[in-house]
Amino acid sequence: MQLFRKALLPTDAPRVLLITGGSSGIGRAAALLFAALGDQVTVTGRRADRLDALRREVETRELPGMILPVIADVTDSDAMQRTVALTLAEFNRLDVLVANAGIGHRGALVEAEWADIETVLRTNIDGVIHSVRAAVPAMRASGGGHIVIISSVLGPLPGPYVSVYCASKAAVDALGRALRAELRADHIHVTVLWVGHTDTEFAERRLGQPGRVASRWPAMTPEQVAGGIARALERKPRTMTLRWRDSALLWAGRHFPGLAERLLAHIYG
Ligand SMILES: NC(=O)c1ccc[n+]([C@@H]2O[C@H](COP(=O)([O-])OP(=O)(O)OC[C@H]3O[C@@H](n4cnc5c(N)ncnc54)[C@H](OP(=O)(O)O)[C@@H]3O)[C@@H](O)[C@H]2O)c1
Repeated sequence: MQLFRKALLPTDAPRVLLITGGSSGIGRAAALLFAALGDQVTVTGRRADRLDALRREVETRELPGMILPVIADVTDSDAMQRTVALTLAEFNRLDVLVANAGIGHRGALVEAEWADIETVLRTNIDGVIHSVRAAVPAMRASGGGHIVIISSVLGPLPGPYVSVYCASKAAVDALGRALRAELRADHIHVTVLWVGHTDTEFAERRLGQPGRVASRWPAMTPEQVAGGIARALERKPRTMTLRWRDSALLWAGRHFPGLAERLLAHIYG
């Protein structure tokens, strides 16, 4: 982690991160990890009570970092611009964006409610675009940075009855990989993180049909994924998976698409 600090920051100034969707799950675990490392972290979400509880936890545990909770909806471009302005006012710079806020959807495309489909696309695609467009000028002014887009193994490897969610993650995969080249001259790295099944509130909050998906696939903890985000910041890969079984699934999808399709039908069917 020290190595990363030296690589990104010319001085010993604390690193400043913006994590969207930090009121629960992966975003919350990442906020706690980075606060434990001494970073200054702006955390967004819509649930004020959860954000406040996170800030209090960091204070109670006397973690060396700081949390700035900001109530902001990622689908609102002005709210994301305001979030970055508040971050600069509080911490003077922005080094890292973790574009994490997201929502799932389950069910057959044709039977799905349009309102649900729209919410997933607006949150998972527009949300990332608004976050990136707000963060990049601040990163440029800070001399560079790193954007980590929290995608899913279902981006490169879509499964049945999760088509809308898969499409939203495939969209941000493409966005992230194109941005990597676009922002190279600004010294802003972009990593797309292909996260596998993780035990968070994601399944309960998913739109569309109720019920757990991927219950046959072992889950990671949000803390494991947070550790993966920290590793991504150190290594700066283009894309990254966090465990061998997810890498194996993606490899099978590339080389044996028929087999992978049957496996996904078994997991998600
Ligand atoms: N869990 C998994 O199995 C899994 C697997 C692969 C990828 N992922 C991805 O990981 C990311 C985090 O999910 P999670 O598993 O940690 O689920 P989670 O516990 O439900 O967290 C989702 C976070 O996103 C925020 N959010 C949702 N809609 C938002 C909006 N319109 N504006 C602002 N914030 C919003 C939520 O905050 P508020 O509700 O307070 O706004 C919450 O903090 C998502 O992008 C998800 O697609 C998850």
